[in-house]
Amino acid sequence: MTGPLLDVRQLGVEYGARRSMIDGIRRRELKGVRAVDGVSISVSGGDLVALVGESGCGKTTTAMSIAGLVPYASGSIIVEGHDLSTLSSAERRARRRRVQLVFQDPYESLDPRFQVARIVREPLDVHRVEGDRDALVREALHKVGLRPAEQFLHRYPHQLSGGQRQRVAIASALVLQPALLVADEPVSMLDTSVRAGVLELLGTLRTEGMGILMITHDLSTAARYADRICVMYLGRIVEEGPAHEVVTSPKHPYTRALVAAVPRSDGAPRDHSLMPAGETPDPSRMPSGCRFHPRCPVLASGEAARLGIADRCRGVDIELEPEVGDHRVACHAVTVSITTHP
Ligand SMILES: Nc1ncnc2c1ncn2[C@@H]1O[C@H](COP(=O)(O)OP(=O)(O)OP(=O)(O)O)[C@@H](O)[C@H]1O
Ligand SMILES: [Mg+2]
Repeated sequence: MTGPLLDVRQLGVEYGARRSMIDGIRRRELKGVRAVDGVSISVSGGDLVALVGESGCGKTTTAMSIAGLVPYASGSIIVEGHDLSTLSSAERRARRRRVQLVFQDPYESLDPRFQVARIVREPLDVHRVEGDRDALVREALHKVGLRPAEQFLHRYPHQLSGGQRQRVAIASALVLQPALLVADEPVSMLDTSVRAGVLELLGTLRTEGMGILMITHDLSTAARYADRICVMYLGRIVEEGPAHEVVTSPKHPYTRALVAAVPRSDGAPRDHSLMPAGETPDPSRMPSGCRFHPRCPVLASGEAARLGIADRCRGVDIELEPEVGDHRVACHAVTVSITTHP
């Protein structure tokens, strides 16, 4: 297969748009909350793509929708070249099996009543996978570093450390031999001492050819482990590019503010000044124009007015536009400076 393993195009997900009978009779227009509003992401085999952004911007909704746990209202999800919306439900299920989710909280995602052997075997039983299922379970445990597997098979979740639990959760995703993992904040609930181990495990899976979409609100983790970073703000990707470029040369004022607020390894103070408090993002009150404009320092400082684009920032929505090569940004100010100073 050529092309990406996962190609999400212009994905739109709405919550709460369901119409009740009363609404229908009263002809009441219901407006859903557009939690994801035109997200495009692509992940190839061997790629670790990080999706970063602050709480509530729509990261989990994007992941759930890719995994089929939340329906999408618009756009397309293409897995290994197949647009899911064009498949029969059996074909769609089979294709979705190629994409597995790892959740944030290994304390909640593992059933406390079952031993590891049963937890990891369950997906194989559900999908009636042929072959030696117990051998596949042992192989998956080995792969995630729980070795020898025999030592873990008969433990209950409460007999595991947080890091081991998350490894079991990853094993039960890997046991179906997916091409792609979507990991939603896979280490945020873990003790800092075991985070690196779990992230390195994802890194190893990536070098073995798996595609990984890792959701995180932590830009420094993204910078360290990802090949590419997608920065999400209020339901949309506002900047996307090679990880190193995005963190060393951020273009979008939101990314610049995120980068400035990252703890520095040299102990220098973090700079929160670039991120004015403004309104916290709320998709039920989507701003007009550029969705970042109410908090944008370029607009607040008068720079946008000097560039002659303040009205455009307030009135015209903007999508990702190519910056240089495969680094793309959705910002009127960036677009104008490129066209005026190529
Ligand atoms: N089931 C739901 N019904 C209605 N609105 C929802 C639902 N789930 C999420 N939302 C809303 O959708 C938006 C995106 O939520 P989502 O959980 O995807 O954000 P997130 O980026 O994963 O945040 P966090 O970093 O806190 O996990 C938020 O405004 C949230 O309130
Ligand atoms: Mg989330």
